[in-house]
Amino acid sequence: MVEKRVYLETYGCQMNVGDSERLLGFLSEANYAETDDPSKADLILINTCSVRDKAEHKVYSAAGRYRELKALKPALKIAIAGCVAQQKGEGLLKRLPFLDVVLGTQSVHRIVDALEQASNNGRVAMTGESDAIDPDEFASIRARKGDVKAFVSIMRGCDNFCAYCIVPHTRGREASRPPGEIVSEVERLAATGVREVTLLGQNVNSYGLKRAGRTEGSVGVGFPELLRMVAVVEGIERVRFVTSHPKDISDELMGLFAEEPKLCRHVHLPMQSGSTAVLEAMGRGYTLKDYADKFRKLKALYPDMAVTTDVIVGFPGETDEDFELTMEAINELRFDNVFSFKYSKRPGTRAAGFQGQVSDEVKAERLTTLQAAQRDITFELNKERVGSRMKTLVEGRSRNDSRVYMGRTSCNRIVNFTSYDDASGPTMGEIVDVDVTDAYPNSLRGVWSKDLRLC
Ligand code: SAH
Ligand code: SF4
Ligand code: F3S
Repeated sequence: MVEKRVYLETYGCQMNVGDSERLLGFLSEANYAETDDPSKADLILINTCSVRDKAEHKVYSAAGRYRELKALKPALKIAIAGCVAQQKGEGLLKRLPFLDVVLGTQSVHRIVDALEQASNNGRVAMTGESDAIDPDEFASIRARKGDVKAFVSIMRGCDNFCAYCIVPHTRGREASRPPGEIVSEVERLAATGVREVTLLGQNVNSYGLKRAGRTEGSVGVGFPELLRMVAVVEGIERVRFVTSHPKDISDELMGLFAEEPKLCRHVHLPMQSGSTAVLEAMGRGYTLKDYADKFRKLKALYPDMAVTTDVIVGFPGETDEDFELTMEAINELRFDNVFSFKYSKRPGTRAAGFQGQVSDEVKAERLTTLQAAQRDITFELNKERVGSRMKTLVEGRSRNDSRVYMGRTSCNRIVNFTSYDDASGPTMGEIVDVDVTDAYPNSLRGVWSKDLRLC
């Protein structure tokens, strides 16, 4: 069979990055290889995000870029997958007349089928939704040769319906994959050289739970148990997970870091706001005190634990005082990093109809204030790591200087480090001790401790 080429562009969260890996997996079974040159592609695939208005607009400009290519090469297929595809469905075919395939978030495994249908019968939108996971849905695996890290989706969807959020509308209802299937996927990844897996879900702490009002859906194993099962897989040295919802993170999970050395010392725990009134309007299910108690408990148990968070500024009704409370929380809790966003009105969500929408000017001002304060905090926390020895997973090597390697610490910091002896440097996927010598705003620099001993 003649090899075909796919050019893939991915936007959005890790869930989409994971889906892109699956798309490539299914496509490789149909003899597609990846290319980084769109003009050489037989298929252009855009995996989209609609979490904020800006993200959604990128789709239209990205797709527009390829319109001319299609005019030059009519056999070229253009497909849009991901959250915008799920939400807009047929509407995308109407809006973009040069588009061949719209593929929803629960139809990733049907990519080849969709392309065939488009070739035989014309343009197609596949955006079916179901409560149960199709047995074939995740049956694709493609660790790129040489990859030392991989994402593994353990569940799909979200049932939380936070007032601002589009995700439950684009990803459907929450459902968990059977644990045995997840463990075999991790085993297969380990066999290809993967050393670190990140387990993915919008709310990993509700993995395996039977949801209220449902008779099916329980997989008999909760999240802490699943982590234990994944951590014993031979060859896997590190396990991470995202995202933990603050209302659901359990004492059992917090205790697990002490028992399970492969669990990385990093928790991403989205706070969203430091004002309990705003949290209530968002429908988050916790107060600032509940959040701070969980944060402090994690730090008390494990002083080296990195905690990162997400914050939205300018949620409808957010006053100057509410924003002040967010700033107080930022300054008191001192997160290792904060991903902060201006509130974006999403059609179909509850908050889109709320009174008290905040002007873009105020949102921009608040975002700048928050980001400036956090930049200093992140830098200071990086400086506190200077002088320490940190276990680092070797992930890459500098193109300009072969003695410089790049890795990540257990607490998810990037470390660039030197190995003086070119011939016996560390191998990719190895975990080495790095002595941290310098801190930068977004990374650390150090020396492989083996070299220090030799000096
Ligand atoms: N499931 C994850 C979040 C997924 S979306 C969780 O609950 O934490 C990632 C982040 O995007 C959210 O944490 C939130 O901070 C941000 N976000 C979601 N909807 C948004 C909106 N309408 N406007 C601005 N930011 C938003
Ligand atoms: Fe969105 Fe809330 Fe679900 Fe996270 S938990 S994906 S913020 S609805
Ligand atoms: Fe975006 Fe969908 Fe992820 S909206 S953030 S790609 S779940």
